[in-house]
Amino acid sequence: MTSAPFQNSKIIGPGGMLAILGGGQLGRMTAIAARTMGIRVRVMDPEAACPASFVADETIVGQWDDVEAARRLAAGADAVTLEIEQIGVDALREVARLAPLRPGVEPVRIIQDKALQKTWLAENGFPVGPFQVARSEADLGDAIAALGCDVFVKIGRGGYDGRGQARIGPADTFDPGKVWRELGAKPCVVEQALDLECEISVMAARSPSGEVRAFPAARNHHENQILAWSVLPAGVDAKIESRAEALAADLVAKLGLEGLLCAELFVTRKGELFVNELAPRPHNSYHQSERGCETSQFEQLVRAVCNLPLGSTELISPCAIANLLGDLWLNGAPNFPAALQVEGVRLHLYEKHTPRAGRKMGHLSAVGATADEALERVLEAKRGL
Ligand SMILES: Nc1ncnc2c1ncn2[C@@H]1O[C@H](COP(=O)(O)OP(=O)(O)O)[C@@H](O)[C@H]1O
Ligand SMILES: [Mg+2]
Repeated sequence: MTSAPFQNSKIIGPGGMLAILGGGQLGRMTAIAARTMGIRVRVMDPEAACPASFVADETIVGQWDDVEAARRLAAGADAVTLEIEQIGVDALREVARLAPLRPGVEPVRIIQDKALQKTWLAENGFPVGPFQVARSEADLGDAIAALGCDVFVKIGRGGYDGRGQARIGPADTFDPGKVWRELGAKPCVVEQALDLECEISVMAARSPSGEVRAFPAARNHHENQILAWSVLPAGVDAKIESRAEALAADLVAKLGLEGLLCAELFVTRKGELFVNELAPRPHNSYHQSERGCETSQFEQLVRAVCNLPLGSTELISPCAIANLLGDLWLNGAPNFPAALQVEGVRLHLYEKHTPRAGRKMGHLSAVGATADEALERVLEAKRGL
């Protein structure tokens, strides 16, 4: 038996090196939190000028399945984490051979395929809405019919922000062959469209010692299937709140994940709570934790992967964020001074140099005396842009 060339219980403190697979905005904000605690950062991303590159000590350029680049990322790192789940499993295994990979290979392998993820959730007794996995055109037709012809069809791998999805309503005439081909003729998950009261998310952290802490739930609003704004606290009834927090803690423990896990949840009009999808990393719906929680999601991730004590997730103040998509740049630079005039509002940009429609360029955040006030402040600031 060969033992790992690292000690799993090592505490990583100032001067240590954290490596991150992915250098987008989530990697960037994690890197800032690590630097604040005196920890050095190395990132890997397909783009040399990725958002995290401007705050990292070192950037390694490599595609998500580049085993050789992953090896260079992990060599000499004290721990490796990730900000995107679409990393090739061979690259993940190579990393895990060289350094503690937190979240771990298996949680990411399950989560990175929506079909495998939904199946795992159902098999492990977590609440999910009616769904079927389709592996062929014929399967797809059968699944759509069986689920009542009011469905979301989602590709197993690579979909995000509503990309890689088809919505089929009860009044639509659909051709399963066309849907199958348009989604790339690959395994997909077919879900019954649920009658939603609201969408919430909940996040939990787990450290290598097994310590778990959940954040309060956030309420999320999507436009064109992209998160538009999010607010903490969610303002759902106390039973839903405590079930959501318990779910996050159960999920992170059952997956054996080390680091952060975010669960996107559906609350239906009948009062049911279902898991929509999981993310083994920081999540857009918790950016406001930097403003309103005792510990931000990014600091919590750094603490968890560095084997440090987890921080308190208590809410100090209601807080909200609104995403800034590239669309806002189409007629020139947005009017940031106008937004910053609104009380309690801060601006966070990701240093992405090419705005594109639908691309997340930054966010506005606000605190307020109530959740409604925090939300109204970010929305007012955004209108001023
Ligand atoms: N089964 C469903 N019923 C109702 N709405 C859904 C369903 N699945 C997805 N949606 C809507 O589409 C959004 C995006 O879907 P999601 O599965 O989260 O994919 P992704 O975020 O990876 O694009 C959800 O946040 C929700 O608004
Ligand atoms: Mg989602």
